[in-house]
Amino acid sequence: MSDDRIISAKARPAEVPIDAALRPQTLDEVIGQERLKENLRILIEAARDRGEALDHILFYGPPGLGKTTLAHVIAHEMGVNLKVTSGPAIERAGDLAAILTNLRGGDILFIDEIHRLNRAVEEILYPAMEDFALDIVVGKGPGARSIRLKLPRFTVIGATTRLALVTAPLRARFGALFRLDFYDVPSMIAIVRRGAALLDVPIEDEGARVIATRARGTPRVALRLLRRVRDYAQVRAEGVITATVAEEALTLLDVDTLGLDELDRRVLRALIQKFGGGPVGLETLAAAVSEEPDTIMDVVEPYLLQLGFIERTPRGRMATPAAYAHLGIPYPEDSTPASPTLFDISE
Ligand SMILES: Nc1ncnc2c1ncn2[C@@H]1O[C@H](COP(=O)(O)OP(=O)(O)O)[C@@H](O)[C@H]1O
Ligand SMILES: [Mg+2]
Repeated sequence: MSDDRIISAKARPAEVPIDAALRPQTLDEVIGQERLKENLRILIEAARDRGEALDHILFYGPPGLGKTTLAHVIAHEMGVNLKVTSGPAIERAGDLAAILTNLRGGDILFIDEIHRLNRAVEEILYPAMEDFALDIVVGKGPGARSIRLKLPRFTVIGATTRLALVTAPLRARFGALFRLDFYDVPSMIAIVRRGAALLDVPIEDEGARVIATRARGTPRVALRLLRRVRDYAQVRAEGVITATVAEEALTLLDVDTLGLDELDRRVLRALIQKFGGGPVGLETLAAAVSEEPDTIMDVVEPYLLQLGFIERTPRGRMATPAAYAHLGIPYPEDSTPASPTLFDISE
């Protein structure tokens, strides 16, 4: 997939360097998410005052909303080391044991895509998170015995795009669960302006608004579009991002006025034209557009749901009249069985 918006759940690359360069360092630099930030401030201050390690924290929500960023920010605010790993990277129980025994008191272990940890690894993580203990089996057969190693008090910060796939026992070991939501327009504008300042690109207020409103409420998308618009401004305009420059650049990139891109529209069009508006199952829909079901579920669907363009029903996904209207396709009035009217009843 050439689009760098899609971070495949299968092969997630190390975060692209530009992301790191634009990443806020402190909570005050993190834009929006006010309630979440206030909750984190309280957690952090309380732990610091007591001189303790932070409680384990789980962040969940669609990609690009700031889960990894917040893990780094928290480590920075606590003044502790952050060790970064991910569910699929920890293949065996021994891999996790090696990571855990290298942690120092107060350290934070960030586990991205924590829903993809395998069972054997999870079993090691439970006592580590709960009792700061590592149970290892020495020897084999009847002579085998288990010994318990003490671990320093550390903090796990987990991140996932799929809370539903985090097992109940793992979820129960987190002291705090936070959901990240799509950002509102003022926050998105602030994120675009901050990005432009860091990239040293001149941008007008209306230019920032155009990018902000077409970025699916997602900071990572906003920053990606900003870089593309910057290129356009440099090559096709005078280097300044005005509203017109932003509109032209985004149109060229196939990003429409609501921020839908070619893949989003392809999914909607398939749903409407191949499946009569649904309901259709996720796998079938993904196959119809030749995409991974994970990509549809993590990246495409959350924003279409947020826009009210699709609905999830027990029988599958359905397109709403708003989706038809956005694509300029007439909504079939007789697609649902008409509810009985007074006239019908009296007949
Ligand atoms: N609240 C925010 N304020 C400013 N920049 C943000 C914010 N949230 C995310 N970003 C930026 O968006 C990009 C993606 O964020 P990231 O933390 O990697 O998302 P996630 O881990 O949820 O996929 C990063 O470059 C980050 O700097
Ligand atoms: Mg991340």
